[in-house]
Parts: sequence; structure tokens; C-alpha cells
Amino acid sequence: MAATGQKMCLLLHLLIFSWYIFTIWSNCSLQTSDKHPGVRSYGGRWKYLTFINLVLQAVFFGWCVFVDAVHMLVPVKHTRSGTPLTLTKARDFYFTALAFPVGTFVFASFWSLYTYDRELVYPKMLDEIIPVWLNHAMHTVIMPLLLLQMFLQSHTYPSRTRGISALALFSALYLSWVLWVHHASGIWVYPIMAHLSPVGLCVFLGGASLSMAPLYLLGEKLSLMMWSTTGNHQKKKKK
Ligand SMILES: *[C@@H]1O[C@H](CO)[C@@H](O)[C@H](O)[C@H]1NC(C)=O
Repeated sequence: MAATGQKMCLLLHLLIFSWYIFTIWSNCSLQTSDKHPGVRSYGGRWKYLTFINLVLQAVFFGWCVFVDAVHMLVPVKHTRSGTPLTLTKARDFYFTALAFPVGTFVFASFWSLYTYDRELVYPKMLDEIIPVWLNHAMHTVIMPLLLLQMFLQSHTYPSRTRGISALALFSALYLSWVLWVHHASGIWVYPIMAHLSPVGLCVFLGGASLSMAPLYLLGEKLSLMMWSTTGNHQKKKKK
């Protein structure tokens, strides 16, 4: 990539990274009072996928900044092998298997439940505590930023087995954590879960987990459409 392109990537990643840090900071510093006891109870903010996702996205874009900086410092001819390539591979794996599907999942599941009945995920009383922009920062803006990233740099997709396994591992860990929180404290992380029968709960959690794989494939498909390859486009440029 040309030097100006590299600089622009670095600049954009730096901006996005700062945005996530600012969002997380705003989330943590806002006084939530007793009206919203969820963040003070067992597990704190870490029981919400929204929050975990914010941290996931922040770490991802922080990593991008680091990779961009290394690429600018290390001469291009060395990037085909050795450290910078490993860094890029790690970035691509993180993006394709976690950042994109999990971010898309948060966006899609939140807004579909919200449209169906907002009390299930984001009770109206939260509007008094949480500013609208912050709600969008947590649940909406992630999506355009992921698409921007997809457009900015091409990501090599791992084999589907590896990518989907990593994503499944993440989902299983989070699911265990949600069930553990209920076991340990009696709290259901999402209000909707308290309304469901045991069977309904299984269907809900199973459905949520299963919808991850199509989101992974969606990322692969979009990437293919934008770059007409899921492989490394450097290879194409070489000829
Ligand atoms: C912060 O994030 C958590 C987890 O998503 C959410 O429950 C909480 O309402 C948020 N608080 C503020 C003030 O944005």
C-alpha cells in the first residue's frame, strides 16, 4: 500500500480507537444511580455482551494502530515474512472470527429485540440515565466502523473450521458466564430471560448462539464482494 494510504489507515485507526476509549470511559463514568442497579450487581458491566464487545472493538482497533505503526517503521520489503506478517495475520484472525461477527451480533440482536419490545433489552427508564448518543455508540456505531475497517484493509479469512471454532468458543464462554451469573446471584443478565420458560430459554440461547455462524459467513461474503478475494490481496498486486 502507498505511504499515504498507510498514514490514512493509521490516522483513522487512531481516531476509532480513541472513540472506543471515550465511549467506554463515558459508560463507566456516568452515574447510573440506583435506578439502574444492573452495573453494580454481581459481575458488574462485564456481564453484558455490549460492554464486552466495546472492549473487544477497542482492543482490535488498538491492535490496528500498532500494526500500522510497525508497518510504517519496517521497510515494505521485509513485510512479506517475519514479524509484521504475523501481526497482520493476528489482526485478520481477530477481525474475521471475533470483531466482525460479535459486533454485528450486538447490533442486530439489540435492535431487533428493541424494535420488538424495548423493555426486554433496554427499558425506557434508561433514557433518563443514558444519553441517546451513548446508546448509539454502544449499539449502532460499531456497525459502520466495522464496515469501514472491512473496506479500508483486506482481511485474509482463516479456514471456516478455524474461524467458526474460535467464534463458537467465544460464544460458549460467554454463555457459561451468563448462566454462572444466574447461578451465583439469581440475576438474569437480560430482562427477556426472566420472562422465558426453561424451554424458551434454551431456544433463545441456542438460537442466539447459532446465529453467530451466519454472521461469520456474512463477513466472509462482504469481504469477498469488496475485495473479490478472501485471500491476501498483496498476492494479486505482486504480478
Ligand atoms: C454501560 O454499559 C452497560 C453494559 O452494556 C449498560 O448496561 C449500562 O447501562 C451502560 N451505562 C451507561 C451509563 O451507559
